[in-house]
Amino acid sequence: MRLGSHSLRLLSALSASALAYLSSNDQQPLASSLDAIPSREDAPSYRVSLLTLHRDLVNIPSISGSEADVALFLEKCLTRLNFTVTLQPLPRHVSSPARFNVIAWPGRDHIPPTPLHNRVLITSHIDVVPPFLPYALNSTHIPPSQPLNFTTLHPSTLISGRGSVDAKGSVAAQITAITLLLQSGSIPRDSIALLFVVGEEVGGKGMKYFSSSLQHSSPPQKLKAAVFGEPTEGKLACGHKGIASATVVATGKAGHSGYPWLGKSATAVLVRGLGRLLDAELGSSERYGNTTVNVGVIEGGVAANVIAKEARARLAVRVAAGDRRTGAEIVGERMRRVLKEVDSEALTLEVGGGYGPVECECDVDGFETMVANYGTDVPNLEGDHVSYLYGPGSILVAHGDDEGLTIKDLEDAVEGYKRLIKHVVEA
Ligand SMILES: *[C@@H]1O[C@H](CO)[C@@H](O)[C@H](O)[C@H]1NC(C)=O
Ligand SMILES: *[C@@H]1O[C@H](CO)[C@@H](O)[C@H](O)[C@H]1NC(C)=O
Ligand SMILES: *[C@@H]1O[C@H](CO)[C@@H](O)[C@H](O)[C@H]1NC(C)=O
Ligand SMILES: *[C@@H]1O[C@H](CO)[C@@H](O)[C@H](O)[C@H]1NC(C)=O
Repeated sequence: MRLGSHSLRLLSALSASALAYLSSNDQQPLASSLDAIPSREDAPSYRVSLLTLHRDLVNIPSISGSEADVALFLEKCLTRLNFTVTLQPLPRHVSSPARFNVIAWPGRDHIPPTPLHNRVLITSHIDVVPPFLPYALNSTHIPPSQPLNFTTLHPSTLISGRGSVDAKGSVAAQITAITLLLQSGSIPRDSIALLFVVGEEVGGKGMKYFSSSLQHSSPPQKLKAAVFGEPTEGKLACGHKGIASATVVATGKAGHSGYPWLGKSATAVLVRGLGRLLDAELGSSERYGNTTVNVGVIEGGVAANVIAKEARARLAVRVAAGDRRTGAEIVGERMRRVLKEVDSEALTLEVGGGYGPVECECDVDGFETMVANYGTDVPNLEGDHVSYLYGPGSILVAHGDDEGLTIKDLEDAVEGYKRLIKHVVEA
């Protein structure tokens, strides 16, 4: 790892009765009295610490590009839980805000020379999509300072807010599960490491940077496996579709709209091309279904009564054909063929980076499985480790105004991560 000594921050140990100290708000009656609260509704012993951590995470805005506050919060919280925490700064322009990946491993007594080697990496992301939406219970906004007695809440209570699902639900459940596994001695301390990255929602800059630092680390370090936290509805994902961004460019000839034969309309040919792309068979597979095209942006022309000289459309293509390495190219080729049939002169296709379907290991007893249609950081972590993808909440609400999940979803995910991590460590 390329971690400067300035980024290696070891805060002094706090004597802590473990999970009770997860919260940043330990001045509040909630956090200091939690051990004494008798549980109703069969709330698990970690209910309050889990929900307090999740609430604190959701309440810290961390839209991609401005994740520093939530990274510093996690540093403090993991240090209190006896992890050694390092902040990995991303390179940046002087004027842009600081960004850190958070890397941690259990124990504070010594720093191993290769703290990640041969370990199972438990990872998720700390950035969220805009806009910030505050924490709410059953759609009632709860100010950050208001004490809450989580033990009295029904498990079907809906927790909402930006990031509550994607992916702060995973972050809170992962930390809680690992702390419980370590405390009960169910996994060796040197078997796992934690990584919370920035920038997953916009191209995976954080994971790519971590991945490259791992590739170049001296002495070399290789991961045994990686468990990625993203909303999978509590099911183990067998993989997800690939993604490629593409731009269709149409070139025409301007002229008076009353005499269309004198020019060539770029907008008209673009619309025909897009129509064919939407209907075309661009590649499918049994596991991932059909490749789909989203026409996200269309622009072109200058006025209603002028034949458009130029037009373009920006597409997000969800790739179901080929494999991780070949899929984007296979689908790009098919798209070119379709556009060529419409108008080989006027239409061109630019395919930006991308990747094909990403496989994950999903053969673990006791888990339902699923396949996801969204992109993740899984392909951004290079190496020959085995990847797993699991987390609470549904992607269907993840980027919407109604992003939310229930208390039960979060608690089930803690149990799910405990089983999954133990399985992967012992595999
Ligand atoms: C942290 O480690 C110290 C020393 O090993 C121990 O006394 C303390 O209970 C631990 N705290 C937590 C939260 O595990
Ligand atoms: C939380 O609720 C439980 C169960 O109703 C109650 O016994 C406990 O006193 C409450 N705690 C606080 C801090 O209000
Ligand atoms: C939220 O709504 C659910 C479902 O209607 C209900 O069971 C639960 O008690 C409610 N919780 C709160 C805190 O209002
Ligand atoms: C894939 O597309 C075909 C038509 O091209 C359609 O019949 C089929 O239902 C689609 N499959 C899925 C999983 O959407």
